[in-house]
Amino acid sequence: MTFTYYGHSCFSIDVKGKKLLFDPFISPNELAAAVLIDAIEADYILVSHGHEDHIADCVSIAKRTGATVICNWEIYIWLQKQGVEHIHPMNIGGRKTFDFGTVKCVTAQHSSSLPDGSYGGNPMGFVVSCEKNFYYAGDTALTLDMQLVPQGAPLSFSILPIGDNFTMGYEDAARAAHMMNCHTVIGVHYNTFPYIVIDEAQVKAHFERNGLDLRLPVIGECITI
Ligand code: NI
Ligand code: MN
Repeated sequence: MTFTYYGHSCFSIDVKGKKLLFDPFISPNELAAAVLIDAIEADYILVSHGHEDHIADCVSIAKRTGATVICNWEIYIWLQKQGVEHIHPMNIGGRKTFDFGTVKCVTAQHSSSLPDGSYGGNPMGFVVSCEKNFYYAGDTALTLDMQLVPQGAPLSFSILPIGDNFTMGYEDAARAAHMMNCHTVIGVHYNTFPYIVIDEAQVKAHFERNGLDLRLPVIGECITI
């Protein structure tokens, strides 16, 4: 499987020939200015919550690609009003099998509102079971609920926020990785804004000391995972 990083918490994972795009936030992100947004392909767009830094480019990419957006009920209603045609509503605890694999929505301890102030429902994380099982935490604090994440689907890797301030910081992300017995972590949600700037060397050293493999792809980089 390949993982392509588009900056902040936006990335794409190729599964069985299907392209899954997560939390599209590219055009407002100065760090992602080199990303050719119109070249991004998507069969599905998974949206963890309604905040601007996770949904900014969702409507335009969904309309251009015809991708199906997977999100919670409240975001489903909002996207319908924006004219998005293909949307699959889910909610926390729910599981659904698609043509690329199975998605389970799990708790994220955060908040959620849409860019125009509409109610965004509850934020979610996603456990995707396909060739490999992986977990994208969305924006969340460290929570004991994460103990439940690998049950029924031992994780190959997880994508966790590490930028602190609005979400888990790197130390809690390392605790989460141990809690989930998942030693390969891709760090996201850092450096985009002054509030969440990290010292990459320090963060990498912390993961290494804890026996964990932290990947920090540069924006635009595609890695095999
Ligand atoms: Ni957020
Ligand atoms: Mn965020």
